Amino acid sequence: MNETSVPVCDYEGSRYRTEFWEGQGRDYEDLTERVALRALLPPCGRRIAHLGAGFGRMTGELGGYDQVIVLDYSRTMLREAQAHLGRDPRYIFVAADIYHLPLADGSCDAALMERVIHHMADAPAALRQVRAALAPGATFVLEYANKRNLKAIARYWLKRQAWDPFNPAPVEFVALNFDFHPDAMENWLRAAGFVTERQRALSYFRLGALKRAVPTRLLVALDRLLQPTGDWAPYSPSVFTRNRAVGSEPVAALDGPLFKCLSCGGPLHDDGETVVCANGDGRWAIRDGIYDFKEAISG
Ligand SMILES: C[S@@+](CC[C@H](N)C(=O)[O-])C[C@H]1O[C@@H](n2cnc3c(N)ncnc32)[C@H](O)[C@@H]1O
Ligand SMILES: [Zn+2]
Repeated sequence: MNETSVPVCDYEGSRYRTEFWEGQGRDYEDLTERVALRALLPPCGRRIAHLGAGFGRMTGELGGYDQVIVLDYSRTMLREAQAHLGRDPRYIFVAADIYHLPLADGSCDAALMERVIHHMADAPAALRQVRAALAPGATFVLEYANKRNLKAIARYWLKRQAWDPFNPAPVEFVALNFDFHPDAMENWLRAAGFVTERQRALSYFRLGALKRAVPTRLLVALDRLLQPTGDWAPYSPSVFTRNRAVGSEPVAALDGPLFKCLSCGGPLHDDGETVVCANGDGRWAIRDGIYDFKEAISG
């Protein structure tokens, strides 16, 4: 699949925050993700890209970094992230497509992408874009939805589910919603220039009745104990991975330019209202504190 033609799951106008998270009985999922992230991500660094950050639910976990790129395709989500996080100058809000990342090559020493790749019809293309934005040695924490989970295996064996959880091909259970096989994900990460160092198996207790019956803090404590089993047996619905960017290509310094031109890859000049390509083939707006790379402006 060509990177230019990949469909995006569009959250413009979405009520994801209020309809999926707030008051929706998902404290267990939220807390277990924080446990995994704290175990995998270096607590501090120079510049981290939070890709598909949504309304910034997890962005507050990145407070040890000098600069945090809060990037999402949805302007609605970014406006909510601004309200959620405040106008701390360490946060840079960017509207962009992960398949066309405007981040300069090697400009970040870490990246986080959780609950996003399950929307990607061409996961390998997205991973290549992330790798290009990272410096060699950088850490990439990636969460993905695991098709080879215990519930899917049981349903398959009981003939209540047609698709095979052991087959490495992604399964699209709803349009633009994919579950992935752990082996396929590891292979794609390797092909993109990453080595997977650690895996955390999360959310084994993601069952409504269990969540209602057992105190959340107990479920989270049990989840914390189980998470390290992801290194050898990831059979949970959600998997967090820590990946190291390999390679020795020369890169821009981490305090160098953040953005690159989406047309030619050249550096962009920031004049306060727009970012402009030095080669004259692209200009993008900065509106209400958001660098908007969803469409170039003419003139
Ligand atoms: C399920 S939400 C998760 C948000 C956040 N990571 C969280 O866990 O709370 C998926 C997010 O990915 C974003 N997204 C999906 N495809 C994208 C793409 N191609 N480029 C940038 N963002 C994308 C959506 O706009 C949405 O905010
Ligand atoms: Zn250019």
